Amino acid sequence: AGGTFVPAVVIGTGYGAAVSALRLGEAGVSTLMLEMGQLWNQAGPDGNVFSGMLKPDKRSSWFKTRTEAPLGSFLWLDLANRDIDPYAGVLDRVNFDQMSVYVGRGVGGGSLVNGGMAVTPRRSYFEEVLPQVDAAEMYDRYFPRANSTLRVGNIDKNWFEQTEWYKFARVSREQAAKAGLKTTFVPNVYDWDYMRREADGSVPKSALAAEVIYGNNHGKVSLDKSYLAAALGTGKVTIETLHQVKTIRQQKDGTYLLTVEQKDADGKLLATKEISCRHLFLGAGSLGSTELLLRARETGALPNLSSEIGAGWGPNGNIMTARANHMWNPTGTNQSSIPALGIDDWDNPDAPVFAEIAPMPAGLETWVSLYLAITKNPQRGTFVYDAAKDRADLRWTREQNAPAVAAAKSLFDRINKANTTIYRYDLFGKQLKAFADDFCYHPLGGAVLGKATDNYGRVNGYKNLYVTDGALIPGSIGVNPFVTITALAERNIERVIKQDVVAK
Ligand code: FDA
Repeated sequence: AGGTFVPAVVIGTGYGAAVSALRLGEAGVSTLMLEMGQLWNQAGPDGNVFSGMLKPDKRSSWFKTRTEAPLGSFLWLDLANRDIDPYAGVLDRVNFDQMSVYVGRGVGGGSLVNGGMAVTPRRSYFEEVLPQVDAAEMYDRYFPRANSTLRVGNIDKNWFEQTEWYKFARVSREQAAKAGLKTTFVPNVYDWDYMRREADGSVPKSALAAEVIYGNNHGKVSLDKSYLAAALGTGKVTIETLHQVKTIRQQKDGTYLLTVEQKDADGKLLATKEISCRHLFLGAGSLGSTELLLRARETGALPNLSSEIGAGWGPNGNIMTARANHMWNPTGTNQSSIPALGIDDWDNPDAPVFAEIAPMPAGLETWVSLYLAITKNPQRGTFVYDAAKDRADLRWTREQNAPAVAAAKSLFDRINKANTTIYRYDLFGKQLKAFADDFCYHPLGGAVLGKATDNYGRVNGYKNLYVTDGALIPGSIGVNPFVTITALAERNIERVIKQDVVAK
C-alpha cells in the first residue's frame, strides 16, 4: 500500500464533512480532513479576515480575474464587480453551459458564504423527497441534534418590528399580506444578540455592514465555530488546507489511495501527495463529491460504481427575482444582510413556493424588494465526465428551469397586482431579465441516497466508501438545505460508525 496511511479521511469541510469528522473523532477514530480552500482566521492588511460585499478584493473569489456577483448590475450597469488577482478566495462560481453554481471554498465550506438561514423542511415534503428515510427518527432526533449543534437561533420579534435594519422585510411582508400570502420568521445561525449590539454601535458590524456572500467578519456561527471546532476538540481530527483531492482508487487490501495536490493561496503547486485510508468519506459537496466519483468510474479507477453516479441533480428550484417599489414605499438605506422572513406558499398545490425575503444592502435607497424563491421543479440534470477537461460537466438546459420560473412568476404576479408594482429588469446582467434562472445557491444531488448509495450513504459497489453531503439529496428539499444536509449526515454517520467502523 502506498502513501501515508490514516484510518479515516474526510474530503471537504462543509456540513456533511464536518458532522462526519466530529462523530468519528468522538468515536476515537483518527481522521484527516482534506480541504481545497483556506482556513479563514488571519486578518489581511485591512485588519479584516474577509473583504466585504461592496468593495470585494481577491479574498472574495476562487481563482477569478473579476468577481462574479449574483446581482451583477443595477440599472444594467456593472457596479458590483471588480477586477481582482486570481487567488484562493472564499466564494466560487462554477460556470456550466446553462447553469452556474455558487459554492463556498475554505474550512467550513458553504457555511462561510451562505446567509445562515437554518430551515427544517416541512415533514410532509421531506417524506415525499426521501420516502425511504424514517421521518419520525429524523424529526425526533437528528433535526434537533443538527439545530442545536449548529447553534440555530431565532430573532427577537420585538426588535425585528422596530429596527430600521429590517424595514425591507416588513415592507415585503405587508405587500405579501395584501396578496393574501403569509410570511414566517426564519431561524439563523447568525448570533442575533451580536446583531443587536451591532445596531447599538457597541461591537464591529458585519451583518449590518453588508457582509455575507464573501464571508462575515463577525457574528455568524459558521462550521469552523461549531462542528469543526468540536471535531478538532476531540484531539482525533486534523485538517489540511489548500489540499485538493484529485483521484481516488482502491488498493488490493481494500484501502483507498488518494492523490492530493497541495497548492499555495496563489495557485502554485507545492506538492502532490498520496494518502491512503481504510474509511473514505466524501463531503466535497454536490459538485465536488459527484465529480470525484464520476472521474473514478470513467477512468476505471473505481469501475464498479453504478450508473446512478451523476444523476438526480437539481438547483432546489432556486429563482431570484426583484420587484420595484413605489417612491412612497422605500425599503431603507440600512439593511441587514441576514434574511429574517420568508413568504410561505408551499401548500399552494398549483405552484408551491417558499421565498426568502432577501436584503439588497447597497447603502442607498434602491426601492427594490429582492427574493430568492425556492420552487418545486421536477426537472433534473445529469453530470457527465468530460475526459478532455478532466471535469464533471452538467447537462442542464435553460428550458428545464421554465417550471421554476413559472411558479415564482405566479406568486410575484399576485404580489405585484395587489400592490400595483412591477418587476425590476435591470439587476441580472445586461439583458432585460426579471427572473434569474441561470444560477443557484442550493446544488443538490449527483449521488442520491438509495440510488447511488444505500440508505445510509454507503456507495454502491464499494465497501468503506461513503457520501455525506448535499449530493445525497435528490435535487429538491423545498427550503434552504443545510439543516437537512446536517441532519441526514448525523443519521448516516451514527449507523456507519456503529456497524462499519467500531464493530470491526
Ligand atoms: P459544501 O459545499 O458546504 O462543502 C464542500 C467543501 O468541500 C468545500 O469547502 C469545498 O472547498 C471542498 N471541496 C470540494 N471539492 C474538493 C476536493 N476535490 N478536495 C478537497 N476539498 C474539496 N443554505 C441554507 O440552508 N441557508 C442559507 O441561507 C444558504 N445561503 C446560501 C448562500 C450562498 C451565497 C451559497 C453559495 C449557498 C447558500 N446555501 C444556503 C447553501 C448551503 O451553503 C449549501 O447547501 C451547503 O454548504 C452544502 O453543504 P455540503 O456539505 O454539501 O458541501
